[in-house]
Amino acid sequence: MKNKGNDKKQLINKRAGPRGQLAKLNALKGGYNQTEKIYEHFFNLSNDMLCVAGLDGYFKLLNPAFENVLGYTKEELFAKPFFEFVYPEDREKNRAEVQSLSAGIPIVYCEHRYLCKDGSYKWLAWTSHTDVEEGLIYAVARDITERKQAEEAKLIHANKMTALGTLVSGVAHEINNPNTFIKSNARLFSKIWKSAEHILEEYYRDNGEFLMEEIPYSEVREFAPKLLKAIDEGSMRIQGIVDGLRDFVRPEKASLDGKVNVNDVVNAARSVLSHQINKYTDNFEIISENNIPFIKGSSQQIEQVLINLIMNSLQALPDKSRGVQASTVFDKESGSAIIQVKDEGIGIASDIIERITEPFFTTKSDIGGTGLGLSISYAIIKEHNGSLEFESEPGRGTTVKVKLPIYR
Ligand SMILES: Nc1ncnc2c1ncn2[C@@H]1O[C@H](COP(=O)(O)OP(=O)(O)O)[C@@H](O)[C@H]1O
Ligand SMILES: [Mg+2]
Repeated sequence: MKNKGNDKKQLINKRAGPRGQLAKLNALKGGYNQTEKIYEHFFNLSNDMLCVAGLDGYFKLLNPAFENVLGYTKEELFAKPFFEFVYPEDREKNRAEVQSLSAGIPIVYCEHRYLCKDGSYKWLAWTSHTDVEEGLIYAVARDITERKQAEEAKLIHANKMTALGTLVSGVAHEINNPNTFIKSNARLFSKIWKSAEHILEEYYRDNGEFLMEEIPYSEVREFAPKLLKAIDEGSMRIQGIVDGLRDFVRPEKASLDGKVNVNDVVNAARSVLSHQINKYTDNFEIISENNIPFIKGSSQQIEQVLINLIMNSLQALPDKSRGVQASTVFDKESGSAIIQVKDEGIGIASDIIERITEPFFTTKSDIGGTGLGLSISYAIIKEHNGSLEFESEPGRGTTVKVKLPIYR
């Protein structure tokens, strides 16, 4: 809309100051009544809760937002002291806030819960001002329930993760002990079997077929070594999981201030995985920018992250013609090195992408996935003050970006 004249322009002239503006507004709109009407409109329209309360503890004036947010009628709100609408656990705090208002502290900001008509409660953020002479509190409140609930959920999640960490290290320890016996006993027994085998063979040659636990010896000699090998492999797998769990709950802190060349780390990860890379793809490439400054941290841990990421990318490829690309760049603006692992794999569905860094979340249990790779990687990157971002288009591929602050 165009300004019709100079009068309106003056209304928004900052130099006029609030009082000046008000005077202009009065002059323009025809006196105080008109201004009052404008304020009344704002008062009624506001989504924030606006009120005047007495130092006697009762509401004196409320806007409709009060009814909308809390569900009471104005009459119900006027009928009882406002303390009674405060959530019982927060009343003490609220009393102290009102006390500071009545002691003349000009503006008080606070957050507390208010009871709603339906028995639930809402978090309100208050800004209040008192006029001690008038004995009145002028206050504005905003419903911040959603933000508070999100914060609470985060806290609960953080506590759960801490508890999970303790639980996991306990479980890892408990599993590790018996697993050590299984592994060493299986290996010992496999040697014992080998030395018993030729005696049994001789007996078989001389006396013909005989039974062992009701199974003919000619069969037992075929599968006994395989059984023992399977026990050994199973226990090695348990060992792998236990080691992963331990890394997860106890990333070594001591070595986190080394100078790490990200290009070296990417190359190291490639050579560790060379066999896997050849197995999964014909198109693997590394594109590295030269002269990227060192980042601060543990090259061993960053390498572990890259191994996890590249391995995930490889496992996501539907056939060998699809590729994986690892690249490094220096992002001057944020002062960080960025390592990117990009694949042309199956991608990650949008409903699970939020969950992939959770411990034990896997869609690959059929091929031995433990769901620990990304949760460990996430913990490592966080310890390095970096970030880990996933972008995926199902059917087309996934890009993971690791951002790590450079050494200063
Ligand atoms: N590059 C990727 N492409 C497709 N899915 C992926 C990729 N990276 C991770 N995922 C998904 O995230 C899950 C968790 O990964 P991770 O923690 O490494 O555990 P795991 O590899 O043992 O399953 C995987 O099971 C997979 O569903
Ligand atoms: Mg993995």
